[in-house]
Amino acid sequence: GIQFFELNTGAKIPSMGFGTWQADPGIVGEVVTTAIKVFFFTFFISRRKMMMIHWPVSMKKGSVGLKPENLTHPDIPSTWKSMEALYDSGKARAIGVSNFSSKKLGDLLEVARVPPAVNQVESHPSWQQPKLHAFCQSKGVHLSAYSPLGSPGTGRMKREVVLKNPILNAVAEKLGKSPAQVALRWGLQMGHSILPKSTNEARIKENFDVFDWSIPEDLLAKFSEIEQASSLAKGYTRVIYLLPRTSVPTKTLKN
Ligand code: A2P
Repeated sequence: GIQFFELNTGAKIPSMGFGTWQADPGIVGEVVTTAIKVFFFTFFISRRKMMMIHWPVSMKKGSVGLKPENLTHPDIPSTWKSMEALYDSGKARAIGVSNFSSKKLGDLLEVARVPPAVNQVESHPSWQQPKLHAFCQSKGVHLSAYSPLGSPGTGRMKREVVLKNPILNAVAEKLGKSPAQVALRWGLQMGHSILPKSTNEARIKENFDVFDWSIPEDLLAKFSEIEQASSLAKGYTRVIYLLPRTSVPTKTLKN
């Protein structure tokens, strides 16, 4: 069954979460019901207690619409102070950030009284971010991976190539698993929690079936040869929602 990673606060984070981003709002309820049948319910409960700064951007006061010119750099230290207050009050069992580069994370760590427990970033075999991974690991910041399957099918960055990668497929064939399962298992073995999205019951089950086997060392070594996508190079990126005090919910963000 599902395993947990320990955070620097001592709280535990489930090694797999369930994403609904981009799912048609009309089917989210149904999909979550399916997921509950497959997952442990504890996931939903513990997940809610984790608060994050979702993107290190905010919007200019009074601006309407998500255009690049409406975005500003938020005051991260003061945002973080509000997060620390939530943590102190017990409203959040852990506080974290998302889409923070090593530089931004390093800057935050210098001023934080309570260090972030998690940095949630895009991570999959074709976007391994080895430097960020090592930095997070050295600082005790848990890395949580979104788009662990490279978000195939969105057409956003032409990264349907992620699951078609020949090295990933060769490893999958050797292990008798699907490329998606191997991509997810790779994430777990890197020590990342993973947030795969699916609205399909068979694939939700498939994605959950990654806990009672592992990629052996010799095959794991092959992942360093996988060609890396220049992620976020073009196109639009995802939904952002920050702390109410510093920003408003927005929809998409052009790089
Ligand atoms: P679907 O909902 O039809 O299963 P990510 O989690 O990286 O953002 O990727 C999500 C995308 O990957 C969705 O389009 C989802 O489609 C698809 N997907 C989810 N699980 C699998 C799987 N096991 N094999 C292939 N595609 C998958």
